[in-house]
Amino acid sequence: MKAALITSYDAPPQYSDVPDPTAVQSGQMLVDVMAAGLHHITRGRASGQHYSSDDSLPVIAGVDGVGRGTDGRLRYFVQEPGLPGSMAQRTVIALDRCIELPHDVDPALLAGAMNPAMASWLALRCRVPGFRWRLPFQRRKRVLVLGATGSSGRLAVQIARHLGAGEVIAAGRDAGRLAQLPALGATDTVTLGDPRLGVLASEVDVVLDFVWGQSAVIAMEAVLRHRRGRDQPLDWVHLGSMSGESAPLPGAFLRSTKLQVMGCGHGALSGRQMLTELPALAEALARGTFQTQVRTLPLSEVARGWQAPDDGARLVFTPWRV
Ligand SMILES: NC(=O)c1ccc[n+]([C@@H]2O[C@H](COP(=O)([O-])OP(=O)(O)OC[C@H]3O[C@@H](n4cnc5c(N)ncnc54)[C@H](OP(=O)(O)O)[C@@H]3O)[C@@H](O)[C@H]2O)c1
Repeated sequence: MKAALITSYDAPPQYSDVPDPTAVQSGQMLVDVMAAGLHHITRGRASGQHYSSDDSLPVIAGVDGVGRGTDGRLRYFVQEPGLPGSMAQRTVIALDRCIELPHDVDPALLAGAMNPAMASWLALRCRVPGFRWRLPFQRRKRVLVLGATGSSGRLAVQIARHLGAGEVIAAGRDAGRLAQLPALGATDTVTLGDPRLGVLASEVDVVLDFVWGQSAVIAMEAVLRHRRGRDQPLDWVHLGSMSGESAPLPGAFLRSTKLQVMGCGHGALSGRQMLTELPALAEALARGTFQTQVRTLPLSEVARGWQAPDDGARLVFTPWRV
């Protein structure tokens, strides 16, 4: 079969012939891969930089996808290290790391959107209080999204509103992309680095942080400095590291306020929590509840697509189209 094969951490995967996967153990299933997205985690694992990267090469690229199983059903799956990647005509999935999808979904849309969407969905539903049930209007939570102009951030704005946030402040670098976010539910927008950020976001309850690094610390300092009550809880959820993998957080932030810093990603939640939450997210995406952009390419174009400049749409490879 054909697959996107990584033979070097320094080069994009190549469209190559590889043996069909055969070692299907109990709790696993062989699937025909319909679509697999090129996410940051996909690039991170392929470059050996991600904490879940394989330490031996060659490996097949791709951490998640949509596939049709031997039972004819469509599933969204996530590949744990040790299983073959998703960017191949066929792969083996773990049945406790996948969910069934409605039969009429667009596989490319789901393959492109599930990874960026699950960041905020799981953070709000599983990591912070106030989003499991719709709260009365007066008690609805206020959310700040840092890095709101990317795929995950745009979805985070929409998902926070969908799950009942009363206010969503969108902060990002690109002023043009930021200007599109009020139409998606943002109640305010502000560029990262704008001194007004601290005042605008001073009373938020939750921060969904896709940037981390020094940018996050500057934003944190600005929010905490303008806060009315130091005992007012602030849940800061680290989701991505676009501005840096380390954030030099002064201890005084934690001692002098009711700030809680936590993360949400592979490893921070149990498989059971994810399996419980993801069907509702998949259904909302399939119904078109959230606006998101995906662009498809056949898997044979993997090396070219891997190096293409970012145009704001999530790239999805479609192995079945070869
Ligand atoms: N924890 C999870 O479950 C999870 C799930 C999905 C993604 N993530 C992580 O979330 C992050 C964003 O992913 P994505 O899918 O939204 O990526 P994306 O679509 O490529 O968007 C990247 C975003 O990062 C911003 N950015 C890039 N460099 C920056 C910098 N130096 N300072 C501030 N902002 C910067 C971009 O801003 P401009 O457009 O304004 O330039 C854009 O908003 C990644 O780190 C990814 O690994 C985590």
